[in-house]
Amino acid sequence: MMKKTGTGMFMKNLLIIVSLATSALTASAAGLDLIPWPAKVQPEPGQFTINQQTVVTADAPFAAEAALLAGDIHLKTAAGAKANRIRLTTQGAEALGEEAYRLEVDQQGATIHAHSPAGAFYGCQTLAQLLEPKTQTIPLVKIEDAPRYAWRGLMLDVSRHFFDQPTILRLLDWMADYKLNRFHIHLTDDQAWRMEIDKYPELTRTGARGNFTDTNAPARFFTKSEMREIIRYAAQRHIVVVPEIDMPGHASAATRTFPQLDGGVKTYNPASEATYDFLQNVLLDVMQTFPSPWIHFGGDEVNTSGWGKDAAAAEKMRAEGLQKPQQLEGYFVRRMTQFISQHHHTPMGWDEIVAAKPATNTVVFWWRHNKPEMLEQALAGGYAVVLSPRSPCYFDYPQDKSYPQIGWKICNTPEAVYGGPKIPASISPALRKNILGVEACVWTEHIGSVPYLEFMIMPRMVALAEMAWTADGQRDFGNFNARLKPLVAQYQQLGIHSYDENNPEGSLREARPSAKLPATASATSASHQ
Ligand code: ACM
Repeated sequence: MMKKTGTGMFMKNLLIIVSLATSALTASAAGLDLIPWPAKVQPEPGQFTINQQTVVTADAPFAAEAALLAGDIHLKTAAGAKANRIRLTTQGAEALGEEAYRLEVDQQGATIHAHSPAGAFYGCQTLAQLLEPKTQTIPLVKIEDAPRYAWRGLMLDVSRHFFDQPTILRLLDWMADYKLNRFHIHLTDDQAWRMEIDKYPELTRTGARGNFTDTNAPARFFTKSEMREIIRYAAQRHIVVVPEIDMPGHASAATRTFPQLDGGVKTYNPASEATYDFLQNVLLDVMQTFPSPWIHFGGDEVNTSGWGKDAAAAEKMRAEGLQKPQQLEGYFVRRMTQFISQHHHTPMGWDEIVAAKPATNTVVFWWRHNKPEMLEQALAGGYAVVLSPRSPCYFDYPQDKSYPQIGWKICNTPEAVYGGPKIPASISPALRKNILGVEACVWTEHIGSVPYLEFMIMPRMVALAEMAWTADGQRDFGNFNARLKPLVAQYQQLGIHSYDENNPEGSLREARPSAKLPATASATSASHQ
């Protein structure tokens, strides 16, 4: 089983850490090197030892979580065991929130109390981190835990470079280890269309050809059955796969396949009903394939300079009461958000869509860190927001100051990621309540191999996870980094390419042998957009 290859299970091999952070000091000294750090940890003397007779037992609602845990830690499940067991139960969990859990380890075994299967799953993830694989012991402890944010996301762009199903499943394992719960998959862009759509086989037959480095690369895409397996695997780990079909910009893969939809400068033509027929058919297929209640329709970086130039466009604008071609963008955004909502899904888009004033059930992703006013406007406009500003949430940017810069000359170190997005002080506590959470984005113009993908994600994803899960006042980078450091060495032992702050040059060379190092390289200039 792929689970625990990278993270949780080997955390127990760590050295005891002497920490300066008071909240985690006692627990760290007791060897409880958990990531993300839980809300309350009360270590006790002693340990529970797993033996041949130890079983996992669960109340009916948590049977799936129990089976997954048992598989991970090589135990059997059994009903009704009273001792020498790991028990998942709804009892005593009435007051716990949606993703919360309580974990108690005593001489009889471990009990995970939760109100929902997600809470039970997170309790299992914590338990798996506590288990020392060599001695099969779990330290006695009482833990109460609940997340800071409901949305703890990672976005992967599979258009600029394609990453296959096994790679995605491994990524989902890592996400699950650290309690991330949204996998946002950017399926379409100018470079290629990566998702099979039944009504339009050409989209993948020809639209899936090429990538950012080689426009002639053979077609790569997810078949329906591959995508369904990704969705099933993620759901088992309480991760929702959120699909993104980018529109009306970033449309070249679709418009080179269907030139009649072309609006110029990498856009769909928003004045043509054929565009709406096509996109609505695509979205209906996506809604059937993905159980996600959210559909991300992009909406970013639209170049409208090719719009409104012909008689049909002028007629459309007249009919819709639009004065300027640019207003077609707002019309397009409102129409697509309405369509998604009418089909009982929540529309999501990048922060440009705020200008269109779509209905307030739309969720806005704030990505332009240099435009904090977009976050302010979105929240003031009544929209729920996911924070994914380039700084510090874009994982295509370098993680070390000694590396060549890309585009915006931003360096998103693990420490910067851990520090989280900067929310302007002007935003009131009441409006902050509408921040759903955070998401890191892995754009892949410059990420064309699995080792380099790993390197850009690890260990920043771990920093993201603790930033997203662990409560204010409980996060301390020094303490986190002490828990993280030994993991990095272990990733490397396991063949996972991880950035290593103690060996920036060597770890980059391992992950990307062709990388130009600063002494010899000029900074790359292309941005991720
Ligand atoms: C984006 O980076 N264009 C959302």
